[in-house]
Amino acid sequence: MSSWTTDEMASTLYQPVEDLETPALLVDIDAMERNIEEYVAVADENGVTLRSHIKTHKNAELAALEDEMTDGGGICCQTLGEVETMARNGIDDIYLSYQVVGEQKLDRFCWLSQKVERLATTVDSAATIDLLQDAAQDHEITADVILEVDMGLHRTGVAPGSDAVTLAERIDEAANLSFDGILAYESHVKAEADTESEFDDLCWEAMELAEGVVDDIEAAGIPVDEVKVGGTATSRYSGKHPVVTEINPGMYPFNDVGELELRPWEVSKDDCAATVVTTVISVPDDDRLVVDGGSKTFSLDKPQLPVPKNRDDIKYANASEEHGWIDTSNSDESFAVGDRLEFIVPHVCTTINLHDLIIGARDDQVEELWEVQARGKVR
Ligand SMILES: Cc1ncc(COP(=O)(O)O)c(C=O)c1O
Repeated sequence: MSSWTTDEMASTLYQPVEDLETPALLVDIDAMERNIEEYVAVADENGVTLRSHIKTHKNAELAALEDEMTDGGGICCQTLGEVETMARNGIDDIYLSYQVVGEQKLDRFCWLSQKVERLATTVDSAATIDLLQDAAQDHEITADVILEVDMGLHRTGVAPGSDAVTLAERIDEAANLSFDGILAYESHVKAEADTESEFDDLCWEAMELAEGVVDDIEAAGIPVDEVKVGGTATSRYSGKHPVVTEINPGMYPFNDVGELELRPWEVSKDDCAATVVTTVISVPDDDRLVVDGGSKTFSLDKPQLPVPKNRDDIKYANASEEHGWIDTSNSDESFAVGDRLEFIVPHVCTTINLHDLIIGARDDQVEELWEVQARGKVR
């Protein structure tokens, strides 16, 4: 249940943004729709499906909007709790890009498989395959399975080569599993590429590696129907490779400071749809003020700090839990308690996860309220 009451929600809807109580997590709906349309165009150009990762916003209405705008591309989830939230709200084509481990989770996955039209999951070891096969057999279902291959992130995934083929064969031979393809998530490129051409080259290199895996598995007589790749930064580069069938970006409707810094040639402040509006609560001296947004408002799990949305003369310098220190030493403006300052969020996925509600605004008026429904659903 949301901690927002109906009255509180009603008093927020249709209000001018300038009247919102702060700190307020805001999404510029026009910018969000533009961003989605841009990735739809990228997917169309490359003839790939755009399946949006909803781990970023955890809201079923936004998931349905993405599904509709991508012409039924479906969604990805990272937890079974997210899958449950989406399934209960009518989303019926879901890929869980995560390993299902543990008896209760395997049961939940099997039940959910029967509730939605399509639910696929991820394996990367003999153990995850065998446990899933046993559960699927007990529930008398056939589970759709994607084999995750490690493209260089060295997080999860089987190594390309003979180990990947061995696991594909194991899935193929399992009576209650259907081998649908591979997940080749190439986000290591984000740490290695600094320029557009480096993104292009390194994503292509990763996709060549993925093509090798597909060739090896198909040489063993197992068709690889799906090759799922890509986050927000890499999808438009990797998606160009003919081996790819599907891109899975999550942050793309919103962007954030991380994406802004990573790819300045294609992400501008105007493309950053998710911001937090804060209020100045204290102006202790001429060089510094404090706003009501600290580390419980902006997630600071990455090196980036919030960046002012519409100005460059002030800097978010430091945070404690409820306080944001703003360096105003380069500004000619004199600030007062009660002034409002808007900041682009440093990391959008983890920042949204701190809030109950995403406030959607168009032309500076609140038009939508999206509860962060799967917030806290880490299981
Ligand atoms: C497997 C997988 N696919 C897609 C995504 C979405 O990537 P991004 O958040 O960069 O859009 C993630 C994010 O963590 C992921 O783990």
